[in-house]
Amino acid sequence: MNPGSDVRLPVGMRVRWILFLWAGCLVYAVVRYNVFKGVEWIHLPLYVVNKSFALSGVTFVALSYLVGKLFDPFPGDSRRRRAMAKFFGLTGFALLAMHIFMGFLMLSPAYYEKFFHESGKMNLTGELTFLCGVLAIGCLFFPAITTLPYMYEALGGQRWLRAQRMGYWALALACGHTFAMGYKGWFDIATWPGRLPPITLLGFLAALSAVAVKLWLLARGRGKAAGE
Ligand code: HEM
Repeated sequence: MNPGSDVRLPVGMRVRWILFLWAGCLVYAVVRYNVFKGVEWIHLPLYVVNKSFALSGVTFVALSYLVGKLFDPFPGDSRRRRAMAKFFGLTGFALLAMHIFMGFLMLSPAYYEKFFHESGKMNLTGELTFLCGVLAIGCLFFPAITTLPYMYEALGGQRWLRAQRMGYWALALACGHTFAMGYKGWFDIATWPGRLPPITLLGFLAALSAVAVKLWLLARGRGKAAGE
């Protein structure tokens, strides 16, 4: 059986996590874009909600790799911790799937001028941004699909674990996706609406945190092994 799949976390707890994180991201996006930046309220349903799906999605995926490393909601209970990681990862995957659908619906110079030349073709920023985005979701399919029942037995422990770790590549590519589209605005704090950091920067930091903690743990493990 896949690690963690024999445990069902309480529905109320799962609903609270989703509402807390997604609603938090939505409130942030509305305040930054509608209230301070002056984005018209008619663009709340798709343009602004999409930002909340992107940020909460990448944060959930990052959390699924941080649980047990940076924080542990169930100390000493590895089965429930793994169930939590699975819940975070699949929730993030679902939110990002919606982010991508919504992104495709709006992908035009009228919504995202910065990705396009005047000719209507994409510029380098657009091409790099979407290359990273597509590769990131491609990598995320591996851990998502291998949460299906009996994948652990079908693949064997090592291959199953390797598929799960593809999520780190997805997060590294999410860093590329957000950096390519947003870095120009990150350092000019005076231009941040309401002095609120851009969502691209927050998404970048969320993805980076999980990759950085993993690299740190790997380096520490090697350091310890070398010292033994
Ligand atoms: C086919 C794949 C993808 C497409 C077409 C896509 C499309 C977009 C678009 C159009 C934006 C909005 C840019 C803006 O409003 O300035 C965006 C932002 C973002 N995307 Fe993606 N995306 C994809 C995959 C991903 C993945 C896999 C992740 C995370 C793992 C992700 C995370 C984000 C984040 C955090 C933002 C910043 C939110 C914002 O400022 O709007 N995206 N993406």
